[in-house]
Amino acid sequence: MKGIILAGGAGSRLYPLTSVVTKQLQPIYDKPMIYYPLSLLMMCGIREVLIITTEYDQPFFKNLLSDGSRFGIKIQFETQPEPKGIAQAYLIGEKFLQGEDSLMVLGDNLFHGNFASFRAAVKQQLAKEDGLKAQVFAYPVTDPERYGVVEFDKKTKEVKSIVEKPEKPKSNYAIPGLYLMDGSAPERARVQKPSPRGELEITDLIQSYLDEGSLRVEVISRGMAWLDTGTPQSLLEANAYIATLEQRQGFKVACLEEIGLRMNFVDTNHFRKVISETPNSPYRDYLNIILKEYEEE
Ligand code: TTP
Repeated sequence: MKGIILAGGAGSRLYPLTSVVTKQLQPIYDKPMIYYPLSLLMMCGIREVLIITTEYDQPFFKNLLSDGSRFGIKIQFETQPEPKGIAQAYLIGEKFLQGEDSLMVLGDNLFHGNFASFRAAVKQQLAKEDGLKAQVFAYPVTDPERYGVVEFDKKTKEVKSIVEKPEKPKSNYAIPGLYLMDGSAPERARVQKPSPRGELEITDLIQSYLDEGSLRVEVISRGMAWLDTGTPQSLLEANAYIATLEQRQGFKVACLEEIGLRMNFVDTNHFRKVISETPNSPYRDYLNIILKEYEEE
């Protein structure tokens, strides 16, 4: 299983913030936004990750994350010259994927809660039971018209349709930016036609799995937080959410070095070396506390 983070896009709803720094590098409290989707992939056990960015922004991502070895993972980068749709990521990522299954997360989607259901989904996807080829999730929201929306059959609860940004949503279940797909995703994207707005729509790609009965849609429990950070208001709320949690618990959300250690991607010697290379900062103090706790466990 490989991971993809789609972190291009125009970020027009955050202008003029995004004329200084791209959306996925904006701060969410004490870390750049991309730490959060990357932490999700790592916590699902994924160690090979492709990050897709605009050409202009790529050096900033590389400067921040380098090749990922700091966290015990391997990061590669590709460019999306123009934001031509989320499904385009599978064309850009085809060489990287080499026919493997993938978990793709949008760079501005932030999940927090127990990731056991995501981990289980990754396992199921790899097991390919019951002809399963792709999985997406459904999450209740108050503004479904902003998202891809799932229509369920009232009786059987089976998925009837998936519609991108419907004017009259048939349910309040939105599809978050987290997609598990088998190795055929690039082939499927290749035969897709752009939508009237000129994009390769992820909903059309998901529909191709639905049509052949190989899609699973899992409703995410209410205990999970799914925040998207595309508007000034949602960005502010995501900041407040993480600040509140971290101050209350004393643990950091999405501290990639810590996750690398806890997932056994790195050992304590590596972690110590990482600490020695980290600027003297509250973040480094936190890493020292984690190391001490980890060694005492
Ligand atoms: P959006 O929020 O739909 O678009 P955007 O980020 O360009 O923002 P705005 O609508 O304000 O202009 O994108 C969701 C995520 O997917 C975000 O992380 C950017 C990414 N994305 C790409 O990288 N390339 C694309 O072609 C598209 C459509 C989105």
